[in-house]
Amino acid sequence: MDPDLTKFALIGKPQVVLEIINASKSFKTPEGGTLNALTDVCVNVEASEFVTLLGPSGCGKTTLLRTVSGFEALDAGEILIDGRAVTQIPAHRRPVNTVFQRYALFPHLDVRRNVSYALDISRVGREDTRRRVDEMLDLVGLSGFAARRINQLSGGQQQRVALARALIARPKLLLLDEPLSALDKNLRQKMQQELKALQAELGIAFVFVTHDQDEALTMSDRIAVLANGRIQQLGRPEELYRHPKNVFTADFLGESNLLSVEVSNRAATLADGQRLEAAINDGMAHLLIRPEALTARSPSDDALCFSGVASRSVYTGTDYRVDVKTEKFGTLAALLRADDMQPQAGQDITLWARRDAVHLIPEHEAAP
Ligand SMILES: Nc1ncnc2c1ncn2[C@@H]1O[C@H](COP(=O)(O)OP(=O)(O)O)[C@@H](O)[C@H]1O
Ligand SMILES: [Mg+2]
Repeated sequence: MDPDLTKFALIGKPQVVLEIINASKSFKTPEGGTLNALTDVCVNVEASEFVTLLGPSGCGKTTLLRTVSGFEALDAGEILIDGRAVTQIPAHRRPVNTVFQRYALFPHLDVRRNVSYALDISRVGREDTRRRVDEMLDLVGLSGFAARRINQLSGGQQQRVALARALIARPKLLLLDEPLSALDKNLRQKMQQELKALQAELGIAFVFVTHDQDEALTMSDRIAVLANGRIQQLGRPEELYRHPKNVFTADFLGESNLLSVEVSNRAATLADGQRLEAAINDGMAHLLIRPEALTARSPSDDALCFSGVASRSVYTGTDYRVDVKTEKFGTLAALLRADDMQPQAGQDITLWARRDAVHLIPEHEAAP
């Protein structure tokens, strides 16, 4: 092919920065057993993409990052960074940097030296280093703090130093292991926005680890949900929230009402006889209804309908968080617009759900 045409063929094709292919890793336990920390994990990250690894403590998030950065070797599988297999490349030569939960800053050095560290040990000239540190400090909002010592900074400022330090060598890929978990709630939310804006501005691919679903939903282009060392689902936030493939993902990403249904001949039947179309195989399944999908007013003629008695009602400002005890489905959690009604505990309530706002999960997909 004409070389110019090859160039055209690449345009519009997203470049993959990180490929994790069937990665598996086990550890020996002190009791002499084996713990499978990662099993058959596959993740692709494109240039400029923000991908989050989301899962409970101990599910393998840190282990996965450590295999990418080179601090841990895989038992099986392969990792490619920028199209190159990195198995033989030591950690310090991979085009990757990591921001750790505890920042790992040097307390005895000032901010400038902490940030310039990666350049000091490579062969970047003094003037160039100085200019790049100033640029970085400006980028993270710490101009004027270059001479401060780490212990003279707040938690949020230390977080920014850690970011500046990780970014100064211009890695292709930045790994962030629960970088915001040491911050209090307000600062954490502010840093979520800053971090996301910074990532968009720099166009560096981020692999971000958290166990906080709100953080994952608000920050990510895509989320990989991990449990017991296995990827449960990988996709866009809305896709995972609205169409989880299993009960674990449904529950981990938000509050779920899960109703047992029986599917046969492309129709799901609820315990009270209501039916809905089902594009899944015959057998038992869960019908997922998010609390905000339930309304106090009928949204359409063919909406699903659930009657019961409010056992609890809490005003949240815009909504009422209501538990509604039903005869056939147990207690349903509903988030009802305060404009629609002001429910009181003890009150009879009818809840409605649009058919396109609910989702079916086959039963065999229930366990991770
Ligand atoms: N070096 C190690 N030796 C033995 N077990 C380990 C080691 N590192 C991690 N593990 C175990 O592997 C599992 C996954 O750990 P980790 O990746 O740190 O989880 P997460 O970061 O999701 O909390 C845990 O059960 C943990 O105890
Ligand atoms: Mg961890």
